Amino acid sequence: MLTVDAVDVTDEAAFRQWFSVRVRAHLADAPSLPATSFEEARSDLPRPGDPYDRWHHLIALDGSEPVGSARAELTCDNPDLAYLTVVVRPDARRRGVGSALLGALEDWSAEAGCTALIGDTMRPAGSAVPGDAFAAEHGYRAGAVSVFRLLDVPEALTRLDALDPGVPSGYRVVTWAERCPSELLEFRAALNEEIAADDPATRQAVEAWDGARVRAYEDRMIAAGRSRLCAGVVETASGELVAVTWFVRPPGEREHVKQLGTVVARKHRGHRLGLLVKVANLRQLGSAWPGTRVVSSWNGDLNAAMIAINSALGYRVAGEGTDWEKSFRS
Ligand SMILES: CC(C)(COP(=O)(O)OP(=O)(O)OC[C@H]1O[C@@H](n2cnc3c(N)ncnc32)[C@H](O)[C@@H]1OP(=O)(O)O)[C@@H](O)C(=O)NCCC(=O)NCCS
Repeated sequence: MLTVDAVDVTDEAAFRQWFSVRVRAHLADAPSLPATSFEEARSDLPRPGDPYDRWHHLIALDGSEPVGSARAELTCDNPDLAYLTVVVRPDARRRGVGSALLGALEDWSAEAGCTALIGDTMRPAGSAVPGDAFAAEHGYRAGAVSVFRLLDVPEALTRLDALDPGVPSGYRVVTWAERCPSELLEFRAALNEEIAADDPATRQAVEAWDGARVRAYEDRMIAAGRSRLCAGVVETASGELVAVTWFVRPPGEREHVKQLGTVVARKHRGHRLGLLVKVANLRQLGSAWPGTRVVSSWNGDLNAAMIAINSALGYRVAGEGTDWEKSFRS
């Protein structure tokens, strides 16, 4: 008999069971793409009582066998928006498990006051995945498309000097690990708001960041064992941080690093600061984390500026994803 239950993810055994479904699905759906480790998934979880993020986990059991896992993610910025994921073990598909999980997530989201639901599907480049038909069948509308790229780090490091655009007059480069320098903190927060405003997946609401929220996020990363390397550009006259980019490395990982959060403040675009911060951070990566072999990065398929930078650095397409959206029960 199929049951759907809430999962207490502070119980490691329960979260392992929930995560086991994802491991099986990844091997079937996207074996050519880097997998998320258990440690990484656990390190991602908001801590109980986190004031910014609230996640709700569900597991589908066939008897005592875990056959599906699902999650709704709510943030303080978008109280009416839930980000949903549903994953079913490959040998248990087309038996209604995914629909049961999605229905339960939608009910929970409605009770939490959400009126808009989003999710995404991911596939190796050029292939089809069942999630697309599943989302469409459940009334979700296809939205933005993102492209997943991988960078061969040892090869890229040999070309950094040639790629370096140089620091334009009036700016300087800064780098740091883990915690942003205090004098840049509020500017860092403002750049996060710019990223959110540019992201099609979060366009339905604005994110409100301040220095305290940046510090809380950094503390969460450190407590979870996630290491970060960041590079930025400061406008010399004002002392303002006007561009930033960062890498994150999950606990226990040595070879695969994720590229996240590159942004150049709107009024400072057009000076090659995007390429400059990325080159600076790759240089930092080469000396701080010398075992790194691959960096992965997601970009909106319409984000021509960032795609041009990543292509110049040597990123190659490995997969793609589609956002799916539904106005709740409308
Ligand atoms: C997408 C996924 C969750 C579906 O789980 P599932 O338990 O097989 O889904 P259901 O049995 O409830 O399917 C419901 C309907 O969705 C559609 N559907 C699901 N899989 C499909 C496929 N491979 N091809 C075409 N339609 C499909 C069908 O209309 C199906 O109804 P039917 O079986 O009566 O024809 C599962 O394939 C999966 O885990 N995929 C990887 C993760 C993913 O992409 N998740 C979705 C985005 S978060």
